[in-house]
Amino acid sequence: MDTGLAGKVALVAASSQGIGFAAAHQLAVEGAHLVICSRSLERIEAAAATLRETTGAVVLPVVADLSQPEGPATVVAAAQHRFGAIDVLVTNTGGPPSLPFLEVADEQWSEAFGNLFLSVQRLIRLTLPTMVERRWGRVVAITSCACKEPVDGLILSNSVRLSIHGLLKSLANEYGDSGVTFNAVLPGYTLTGRMEELVKTRALQQQRSAQEVLADATRAIPMARAGRPEEVAAAVLFLASAAASYITGVSLSVDGGRSRSVL
Ligand SMILES: NC(=O)c1ccc[n+]([C@@H]2O[C@H](COP(=O)([O-])OP(=O)(O)OC[C@H]3O[C@@H](n4cnc5c(N)ncnc54)[C@H](OP(=O)(O)O)[C@@H]3O)[C@@H](O)[C@H]2O)c1
Repeated sequence: MDTGLAGKVALVAASSQGIGFAAAHQLAVEGAHLVICSRSLERIEAAAATLRETTGAVVLPVVADLSQPEGPATVVAAAQHRFGAIDVLVTNTGGPPSLPFLEVADEQWSEAFGNLFLSVQRLIRLTLPTMVERRWGRVVAITSCACKEPVDGLILSNSVRLSIHGLLKSLANEYGDSGVTFNAVLPGYTLTGRMEELVKTRALQQQRSAQEVLADATRAIPMARAGRPEEVAAAVLFLASAAASYITGVSLSVDGGRSRSVL
C-alpha cells in the first residue's frame, strides 16, 4: 500500500511513549517528518532520539502541556516555524484519573474537559486552515473503546471523550469537500504505561493482585488478550494515509473485539 506520507508533516500529540509514540514511529517509517510533544523535556527528547535512530526521520520534539490553554498553540507554532504547514494531525492526550462518580469534584470535570476535549479542539482549530487551503489533510483522533461501551471506573473518560466524536462527525460533514478527513481510532486495553497504572489503581481499590485484574479485563475480550501500541498505531497510519482518501467521520475500534455492538 502506498501511504503517500513521504515528506508530509505529521504532528502527533502526547507522544513520548505509549500509543502516541507508536503512531509517530509508524508515520516516520513511512517517511513523514514528525512533530512530537509531551510535558517532559527529558522524555520527549529521548523519544525523538529513538525515532531518529530507528527511522532516520526528521523529528521536532516540543515541550507542551496540552491540558493548558496555551499548550496546543505552543506545539503548532513550533511546527509551523520549523516546517511551514502540518499535513497530518494525530490528536492524543494523557488519560484522566479513575475515580468513583461521587468523588469527582466539579473542578475535576472541568480539568477532564480541558485535557480530553479542549486540547483536541484547539489543535484542530489551529491546524485546519492550512489543510483546507492546501486541499489535503488528515485528522486522526485517538480516543477510547470507552466511547462505545463504558469502562467501569472511568467515568471521566466514558463521559467527556464522547464529545470528540461529536466534533469529528460535525467537521466531517462541514468540511466534507475540503480534502481533509476526520476520523477516530478507539483503542481497547493496550499494553502501555497508562494501562499499567490503571491496573495498579484497580488492584488497590479491589484489594486484588494486578495479574487478577488484568486477567479479568482480558477475559471479556474475544481475542483473549490486550493489544500492543503498534496495533493501534497501524490503524492510525492507515487513516492518515493517502489510501484512506474516501473515509471520513469514522470511528475505528482496535480492541480485539471488546465492543460488542454490531456497528
Ligand atoms: N492504554 C490503553 O489501554 C488505552 C485504552 C483506551 C484509551 N486509551 C487512551 O489513549 C491515550 C494514550 O494512552 P497511552 O496508553 O498511550 O498512555 P501513556 O502510555 O500513559 O502515554 C501518554 C502520553 O501522553 C503524554 N501526555 C500526558 N499528558 C499530557 C499533557 N497534558 N500534555 C502533553 N502530553 C501529555 C505523556 O507524556 P508526558 O508524561 O511526558 O507528558 C505520554 O507520552 C490516553 O488518553 C488513554 O486514556 C488508552
